[in-house]
Amino acid sequence: SPAELEERFDATIAADQRIEPRDWMPEAYRRSLIRQIAQHAHSEIIGMQPEGNWLLRAPSLRRRAILLAKVQDEAGHGMYLYAAAETLGVDREELTEKLIDSKQKYSSIFNYPTLSWADIGVIGWLVDGAAIANQVPLCRCSYGPYARAMIRICKEESFHQRQGYESLLALTAGTEAQKRMVQESVDRWWWPSLMMFGPADGDSPNTHQSMAWGIKRHTNDELRQRFVDMTVPQAAVLGVTLPDPDLRWNDERQAHDFGEPDWSEFTAVVSGAGPANRQRLDHRRRAHENGAWVREAAQAYAEKQGARA
Ligand code: ACO
Repeated sequence: SPAELEERFDATIAADQRIEPRDWMPEAYRRSLIRQIAQHAHSEIIGMQPEGNWLLRAPSLRRRAILLAKVQDEAGHGMYLYAAAETLGVDREELTEKLIDSKQKYSSIFNYPTLSWADIGVIGWLVDGAAIANQVPLCRCSYGPYARAMIRICKEESFHQRQGYESLLALTAGTEAQKRMVQESVDRWWWPSLMMFGPADGDSPNTHQSMAWGIKRHTNDELRQRFVDMTVPQAAVLGVTLPDPDLRWNDERQAHDFGEPDWSEFTAVVSGAGPANRQRLDHRRRAHENGAWVREAAQAYAEKQGARA
């Protein structure tokens, strides 16, 4: 009976076990997972653009090969995540349509332009660092296919984070101009990286329910704090200043105090008015249209094979 199914679902969540695609689940749980996983997949796919911008301008063959591998990893992450979403009964064609019609979101961070080569290192260090802080707990998400996809994604993300940091170590050991380029890039990316964790807990409509369902394991503010505490010593090693006059160690809390991100900027970027929103979606739409013949050919081939069988 429906009551028994719901009881079994609640017991699985309470025992911290995994919900699998064949299991009964409340419609709102399914919808919320599709929302989050689709947004996550779209972020990986759109996230290729700011870095792709530097593929042909990387300063050496070695740096170009590393960047190319990283951008390919991101395409792979998008694919695992669309596959995880498909286990919930949607298909990726439909999700892509929703992305290019602006009916589903992707991470705010990818709406900022990459203006210098240092941005590539800083994205690895800060953006992938924030992604790891946010995603490691998702390896314990209550929905099995999402949790399992996250394990591999997190391994690759930590490689991305280290390559970014290593590239910044090289730049900060370089000329004065290179050091200035790194600082200028950190100044632009710091606050948008903090915004990746989502709105403050008091303004986060989904956190409470997502935590009750074991989809999220920590609140947005908890993870933002963890990221700040992790990053401050890394900034000291690089010799860069994080652009926040309120940032200081709080001995009582055993954590850093820090300033408030500009939430009006966050709202604007999420609702489509960021510096590169138009460009990102136009590019994605064009790529989708240019790929139509491949999808049609694959479909025709599958039909022909089916008819023969
Ligand atoms: N950029 C764009 N939209 C955001 C962001 C952000 N940085 N943060 C929150 N939002 C959206 C939420 O999707 C939600 O919108 P919706 O209700 O229309 O779906 C709204 O703002 C309110 O936020 P919350 O209630 O806090 O939403 P949620 O509980 O889903 O938490 C979070 C947001 C932390 C991003 C969560 O969805 C998550 O952990 N997602 C998986 C990780 C992810 O998507 N990472 C992508 C960037 S990392 C990378 O790709 C390298």
